[in-house]
Parts: sequence; C-alpha cells; structure tokens
Amino acid sequence: MKLFLDTADLQAIKQWSKTGILDGVTTNPTLMSKAGGDPSEGVQEIARMMGAGDVSVEVTTTDPADVYQQAKRIAALADNIVVKIPCHTSYYAVIKQLVSEGVQINVTLVFSVMQGLAMNKLGAKYISPFIGRLDDINQDGIGLVQQLCMMRDQYAFKTQVLAASIRNREHLNQVILCAADVATVPVTLLEESLQHDLTDKGMERFLDDWAKLGVQQFP
Ligand code: G3P
Repeated sequence: MKLFLDTADLQAIKQWSKTGILDGVTTNPTLMSKAGGDPSEGVQEIARMMGAGDVSVEVTTTDPADVYQQAKRIAALADNIVVKIPCHTSYYAVIKQLVSEGVQINVTLVFSVMQGLAMNKLGAKYISPFIGRLDDINQDGIGLVQQLCMMRDQYAFKTQVLAASIRNREHLNQVILCAADVATVPVTLLEESLQHDLTDKGMERFLDDWAKLGVQQFP
C-alpha cells in the first residue's frame, strides 16, 4: 500500500520525504494556494524531492479544451507528475485523449461507484474518492472506498483507489484495512497517527531501568 502526503507545503514534504515512508504527494488548488509562492516552481521542487514518487497536481481551468492544454503543460513539469482532473462528464473525452498520449491521470472528486467504473474505462491511473466530504453530508465515505476496492478486485481493474479527504485516525485505519491502493494523509494527521504515548513512555522506562545498572559503555 502506498502512503502519500496531502499537502503542498515544501518544508513538510522535505521533512517527511527523508523518513522513507512516503510514496508520493497529492496537492490541490486549495493546498497550493495555502502554500503560496510560484506554483510551477513549487511543483517542480516537490517533484524533485519525491524522486520517483507520484506527485498529483490539479488543473485550474474549466473549459475542456483549456483543461487539455493545461494538463499537458502540468505533465511536462516533471516525469513523476500525475495530473488531477475532476470527475465530471465534460472532461471524459479529454481524459481519454490524455491517457492515450501517455499522461498519467488522477481523477479527483469521485463520489460514486459508477463514477469509479467510468474512470476505469478511461484508463485513469488513480481515482480519488473523498471520504470526509461524503461524511460531511451524512453519507458513508469509508463505505464508498470499500465498494470501489471491491469493484477493483472483482474485475481486476488496473485503476488504483486513492483514498482522499482522510480526516481522522479511524478513516486512515479503515482505508488501510480495506486494501485501498493509496492513502493520502494531511501532515498533522500523519504526525498524530504515527505517535503513541505508550511508545514514548516505554522508551523512557527502558532508559530509566538501564541507568540503574550503572554501565558506562555497552557493548
Ligand atoms: O486529497 C483531497 C483532500 O485534500 C481534501 O480534503 O479535508 O478538504 O475534504 P478535505
């Protein structure tokens, strides 16, 4: 299973890329706006830091012809760029064309199994169901990820399920357990989900007990 960081914050990406647990990064216009700076330079810097890891970058235009042109320009920023395009019927032809030209696509804002099926047919590399945003309207975000994974397995589809809008530890646990291909995790949630008080307390106790031995050097 792949773990992506859901941010455009260069410092956070730099810090987490050194840990060896990151397989990629996802951004969106909101995250890029929050990060500030020149977006093209930012994307190239993220792509460089991630090495071979995929970096998703979303289009910011709406007209299909413009989306096509912008997607090509975004993809040309680096070899490991995956272009994010919203899951809207206006863009189906564009997605199909881009896939046929070798552009890697992450179809974002996926909220139903049928949308997921359609994106498999178009050859998207990833589909991104948004868990938290379904929960926001009292629908079952995790349920959708489970259904998309079931569909992927039943039909041996190649399109990978990239669970997004992960808001809490329970979301993350469920996504891992239902065998999503990727979880993209906000920085604060990644930090908190990897920390455990008992790990910290356990380390402290081992060191205290060891000190009682009074050994100067070991081994
Ligand atoms: O990966 C998509 C994610 O950034 C959206 O999260 O919390 O804004 O729904 P959220």
